[in-house]
Amino acid sequence: MVMLMAGRGAVAAQTASPGTGKPTHYTDWPHIASPRKVDPQLDARVHDIVAQMSLAQKIGQMTQAEIKSITPDQVRQFYIGSVLNGGGSWPQGNKHAGTADWLALADRYYDASMAVDAPVKVPVIWGTDAVHGHSNVFGATLFPHNIGLGAAHDPELIRQIGAATARAVRATGVDWAFAPTLAVAQNARWGRTYESFSSDGPLVHAYARAYVDGLQGHFGDANVLATAKHFIGDGATVNGTDQGVAKVSRRDMINVHGAGYVGALEAGVLSVMASYNSWDDAVDGTNYGKMSGARALLTGALKDKMGFPGFIVSDWNAIGQLPGCSNASCPQAIKAGIDMVMVPDDWRAFIANTTRQVQDGEIPMARIDDAVSRIVRAKLVMGAFDKRPSQRAGAGDASRLQDRALARRAVRESLVLLKNNRDMLPLRRGSRVLVVGKSADSIANQVGGWSLTWQGTDNGNADFPHATSVLAGIRAADGATNVSYRATPDGVDTGTFDAIIAVIGETPYAETMGDILPSATLRHGDRHPEDLAVLKAAAASGKPVVTVFLSGRPLFVNALLNHSDAFVAGWLPGSEGEGIADLLFADGQAKPAFDFTGTLSMPWPRVPCPHAGGDPAANWLFARGYGLHYAAHHELPALPLHAEVVTCAGSSTLPIFHTLAQSPFSLYLGAGRDGGKVQAVGADLNAMIEWPAEQPVFSLRTVQVNTQQDAKSITWHGPGRFFAKSPQPTDLMPLLATHAALQFDLVIGTPAHAPVTIYMGCGEGCTRTVNVGAMFAAYKTGRRHAVSIPLQCFIRPGEDLARVDVPFGVLAAAPFSAAFANVRIAADSAGAAAATCPGTVAR
Ligand code: BGC
Ligand code: BGC
Repeated sequence: MVMLMAGRGAVAAQTASPGTGKPTHYTDWPHIASPRKVDPQLDARVHDIVAQMSLAQKIGQMTQAEIKSITPDQVRQFYIGSVLNGGGSWPQGNKHAGTADWLALADRYYDASMAVDAPVKVPVIWGTDAVHGHSNVFGATLFPHNIGLGAAHDPELIRQIGAATARAVRATGVDWAFAPTLAVAQNARWGRTYESFSSDGPLVHAYARAYVDGLQGHFGDANVLATAKHFIGDGATVNGTDQGVAKVSRRDMINVHGAGYVGALEAGVLSVMASYNSWDDAVDGTNYGKMSGARALLTGALKDKMGFPGFIVSDWNAIGQLPGCSNASCPQAIKAGIDMVMVPDDWRAFIANTTRQVQDGEIPMARIDDAVSRIVRAKLVMGAFDKRPSQRAGAGDASRLQDRALARRAVRESLVLLKNNRDMLPLRRGSRVLVVGKSADSIANQVGGWSLTWQGTDNGNADFPHATSVLAGIRAADGATNVSYRATPDGVDTGTFDAIIAVIGETPYAETMGDILPSATLRHGDRHPEDLAVLKAAAASGKPVVTVFLSGRPLFVNALLNHSDAFVAGWLPGSEGEGIADLLFADGQAKPAFDFTGTLSMPWPRVPCPHAGGDPAANWLFARGYGLHYAAHHELPALPLHAEVVTCAGSSTLPIFHTLAQSPFSLYLGAGRDGGKVQAVGADLNAMIEWPAEQPVFSLRTVQVNTQQDAKSITWHGPGRFFAKSPQPTDLMPLLATHAALQFDLVIGTPAHAPVTIYMGCGEGCTRTVNVGAMFAAYKTGRRHAVSIPLQCFIRPGEDLARVDVPFGVLAAAPFSAAFANVRIAADSAGAAAATCPGTVAR
């Protein structure tokens, strides 16, 4: 139902409209008949192949390694079943690798897999996160992220996008897309909200079917294997925490969060990826643990009850998160029903360990045979045995990476008009327009995460050669001479303009890095004050303001809405910025060529903490299904700002570094003990930094301590500092009062000889230090240690932590190397109050 009065002209709610599926009311996991007919000949062939395979070959088939850490010859030697390129991984590590580079590498892997010395040869398959188009590949068309597609409510569009994506993926020789994501996201705090089509099961059901159908089709030359991910409950976690705990009833798990799997199985999906999250049944209390070890769900629900005939792949190093497992060893996961294990780096040790576990009888041979049979069957069905990657029609054809018209149409269909007071839109073509805002000319901001790089960071417009920015789209639609652009309207004489278009919003993120902590509000201005400043200045000019808001989720934007006459939710539209201009301008004819048709696929908040419970009507400004069109004649009144609400749940954690530096902090290296040269570490997870170049004091690279690429590994070649700093100081006194501690995870590579100091900076000439030399010396190298230093250890009587701009700094000298992860200031559950300080408080 529409909670904000569906004013005249508002599009009616569509919770279960025709073509977008009906809610289901299963009481148990339903059996889904596969569209593929039972084929005894196929089964016989699978049986025949598996019967001839050695144990080494079978375990190799169950192993998926990352292209950065495996060569084609190793694929041959270890009978590897699959390779993947993770987000931001490309042939030869070249971000600008072309279609031919991808295809050549695909052929090399394939040929290696068919050159094994064995009676039967099983081709390797290559998987990639083609999650909004072929999204790791330079020059590929990027479709809107899933949340925008959800707003289109158009399964046929989704089928076409699936097919276009498959065509692009195949052109580069890749066989398999890790898509679609079928999360039914319930909480916009989740950093993967934009990967979810909708918070509504029926829509995800219809889309899953269409997307899988588009990708897999009948497995012709232009089709790829699809993956329904992440099974199950990724969109159900408490507070929207990535990889967290889902606390829902079984009924909701099946009917809401399972809806997409019903659709994907109906379409014959042949792979499913297990999710990082765990599940505690909210009604009966059953604790299923992390999904990659949940036998009741992988085998019991998905394979046995639902009748899934394909194979289950685990997520990136997910097995290492199961109790008693490591990234290189996890018999539990295989016994639970994982058929292929994504072990990006530790694949060699994984193969050795798994072989031993089978020989020792810990993993039953029957389970191995079942896993391998599922993989081989999928490979036969998808035609992997038939052709080398380059033998497929269209392989190497770079033009197949493009489907710009389809993407532009998808952008048009995905836009949702939330406000259009005085019928501000459409603007008349030829109006004099001032364009402002940081995202107008930023393709990186418009494509978001999972775009060329994993986080979508470290990209400039030149990294997207066939894309059009929103600004370029506006210039094309309105006439270039009618359009001026400034990042901010400050100091611009607005007198000659008819209207201001502000293009603002979130900056790119992916996965956990996009989570908004439970303590933080969903207020956009809290995280992006620059956007509010732009709109204020625009509104102050007295000219009509049209806001295009690019975001991966619905956010609390009452202040932005108040400063706008028209407001368009543009989501993360991808590479075709013209799709936005298509709906901003018209010729003034009675019936414009296009109009807004998109409606929200998730509710939009009315308050800063909408998930705090209470009356839904009070929490949501626009319900799912809301969206205006040009002639709506709907006036949105001024909205309350709730400025008094500055946090949501009790704020007990200050995150500093978690894979990326957490806003407002950035990471730096500083040569020497004090002052001197400083180098920003940046957000590029692939960067290897040797600094200063003339005579390095530091080597820095990104490694894994807890989850993928979450740590900075640093070698000191001389005296220097690694630290996090913010432009403005933070008051840590409230955290001090809660007995909070500076915490981080640490793996020491080379122990230090000279003293090591952890410090905080409090402005020019002010530091607070703790000597951790003795504490670190007691740590075993190569092991992870959870370090917790009570804040009180940093101060002497009479000192405070009221103005801290460096909440974390490490001062050391050669020899010393260590990896640092998950740096934060948090209330210490073990009780920092009672904890003792490491070393003595040094000056
Ligand atoms: C992402 C991968 C990414 C990797 C880092 C993973 O979490 O899913 O795609 O490549 O971390 O490279
Ligand atoms: C993500 C998956 C992705 C995989 C491979 C993981 O971190 O959760 O969605 O397919 O990495 O890149």
